Amino acid sequence: MKAMVIKPGVSKIGAVHWERRLFDSLIPLPDGTSYNAYLVEGKDKIALLDTVDPMTEYILMEQLKDVKKIDYIIAHHAEQDHSGSIPAVLEKYKEAKVVCTPKAKTFLMDLLPSIPEDKFITVEDGDTLDLGGKTLKFIHAPWVHWPETMLTYLVEDKILFTCDFLGSHLATSELYATDECKVYDAAKRYYAEIMMPFRNFIEKHLEKIKDLDIEIIAPSHGPVYNNPEFILNAYREWVLDKPKNIVLIPYATMHGSVKKMVEYLEAALVERGVIVKPFDLSVTDIGEFAMALVDAATVVMATPTVLLGPHPMAVYAAYLTNALKPKVKFISVIGSYNWGSKAVDQITQMFGNLKVEFIPSVYIKGYPKEEDFKALGALAEEIVKRHKEAGIM
Ligand code: FEO
Repeated sequence: MKAMVIKPGVSKIGAVHWERRLFDSLIPLPDGTSYNAYLVEGKDKIALLDTVDPMTEYILMEQLKDVKKIDYIIAHHAEQDHSGSIPAVLEKYKEAKVVCTPKAKTFLMDLLPSIPEDKFITVEDGDTLDLGGKTLKFIHAPWVHWPETMLTYLVEDKILFTCDFLGSHLATSELYATDECKVYDAAKRYYAEIMMPFRNFIEKHLEKIKDLDIEIIAPSHGPVYNNPEFILNAYREWVLDKPKNIVLIPYATMHGSVKKMVEYLEAALVERGVIVKPFDLSVTDIGEFAMALVDAATVVMATPTVLLGPHPMAVYAAYLTNALKPKVKFISVIGSYNWGSKAVDQITQMFGNLKVEFIPSVYIKGYPKEEDFKALGALAEEIVKRHKEAGIM
């Protein structure tokens, strides 16, 4: 990828990782990703904002081939997809210093022990660095999604560099987010997977930057935003505390009993005016499930009994739901067993992070029968009642 000029003296470099399909051995990347680095050239000094994942380091180094000097490497975030190539850049630019928050310095020294301590310059919230007609203002923004993170505002050009914050795992050769529908989905998926557990912090950071005069938002994944309100408005909606009239039913099924229950409950809820999203966990892209959690009011876990407890895929979905801390208000469990089960107790104990009300479960013996369908109908009624009481339908 050639450097893409955003403004005179400001260009986007870095790598597009088209073929990457998994992040952190966990997060599906259906659209690949990019590791954006930015070069900001002042009259006196040159700064490189973030680097790239070491897997694509050769691309960054090729882009820097004709760059004679770098004075500062701004490390917004210590995670390796942005900071992992700092040692290679320092190897080429012996005079460069690494600029980061005090906490990021400790993380980088742990993660990249080849960097000598005297290479670091730490900055406090609000500190500035003058490159000569280009002023970098540092804004501490912890917990997007690690505790050491910061943003940089380029004062003269009104560009906010946000690293992971407001970004998207989306490989693209376009500089700007032109296909907003596509970018919206990718950014929402990204928010759901790593930012959502910290939405209280995210809300504070949105408030903190609201008075900045921002023309461009330049994240370190996905396209750049020349319409900042598009992504800022999306985030404002996602962090809101009020969920929507949506029920998710993540389910595992072995011989069809649970599937039959899910289908019945889905129809009963839809008839009553609720939006329902079932997820067959044996084939679900877990990122899609995470995205759906951003808005849902209720999660109904559906699981058969395996080895006296819940199906491991249901355990995984419950664990993830609890870890992602969505704004879900109600949880219930449905499913089936034959000779004995602790599935309901074990699943309901897994939501300790969430402030939720549990709606009584419908856990039946064997294949669902007439009275079981009645119980599922009553569960649908109860969910509707709770949604109405919560003012979301
Ligand atoms: Fe894109 Fe948290 O690293």
